[in-house]
Amino acid sequence: MMSSLELRFLGPIRDKLLRGTSGRVLEIGGGTGANLRYYGDRVGELILCEPDGSMRKILAARAETVLGGRCRIEPWSAEAIDLPDASCDAIVSTLVLCSVGDPAAVFAEIRRVLVPGGKLLYMEHVCPWTHPRHRRALRVIEPFWKLVAGNCHLTRATGQAMEVAGFTNVRREVAHFPRPANWVGPVIWGEAEWHPDHIASKAEA
Ligand SMILES: C[S@@+](CC[C@H](N)C(=O)[O-])C[C@H]1O[C@@H](n2cnc3c(N)ncnc32)[C@H](O)[C@@H]1O
Repeated sequence: MMSSLELRFLGPIRDKLLRGTSGRVLEIGGGTGANLRYYGDRVGELILCEPDGSMRKILAARAETVLGGRCRIEPWSAEAIDLPDASCDAIVSTLVLCSVGDPAAVFAEIRRVLVPGGKLLYMEHVCPWTHPRHRRALRVIEPFWKLVAGNCHLTRATGQAMEVAGFTNVRREVAHFPRPANWVGPVIWGEAEWHPDHIASKAEA
């Protein structure tokens, strides 16, 4: 059964984010499969990677039920994706970049496996940049929170990191968790594109 947070807040965002996805798609940190029901018929092949063994078991069972032969489950971490260069049309990351050990390495892997013009579809909670007091409180809580919440960081500036990593045409919506979960900070979601030429022209400038 879906939690009320999933049903009322995250589910509608997942739906808008994923319903138009097409081609060969890689989802990093698939968890227990919260996104599965939102992929449409235009997805040709869905690869889900999930390094946590117990989550992966649940994910595999759900994926088989929801998507059958169109999907494949892998144990990779997002810092080491075992796929060839330029082999995916889109990469999906929802509530994952807060938990990975090395976000820069993950962005590098995403760039490597995306085709030129490929899309990163994201939904991530981020540091509340407009509220310094809130930010300070999250900094205090973060070391303890990471221990109980699977290395989830509360103060990552994932939106900025995405642009620093060279993603372009970034489309971004901001949403706020309903109370009492709103203390976590805002959620950003949308898509960004990867164009190798963009980096090359920045380097030349
Ligand atoms: C909060 S859960 C989100 C699960 C799912 N994506 C969702 O939207 O509900 C964070 C997920 O990130 C995964 N994760 C953590 N570090 C990771 C890494 N380095 N590479 C890939 N997945 C990772 C965890 O195992 C977990 O499944």
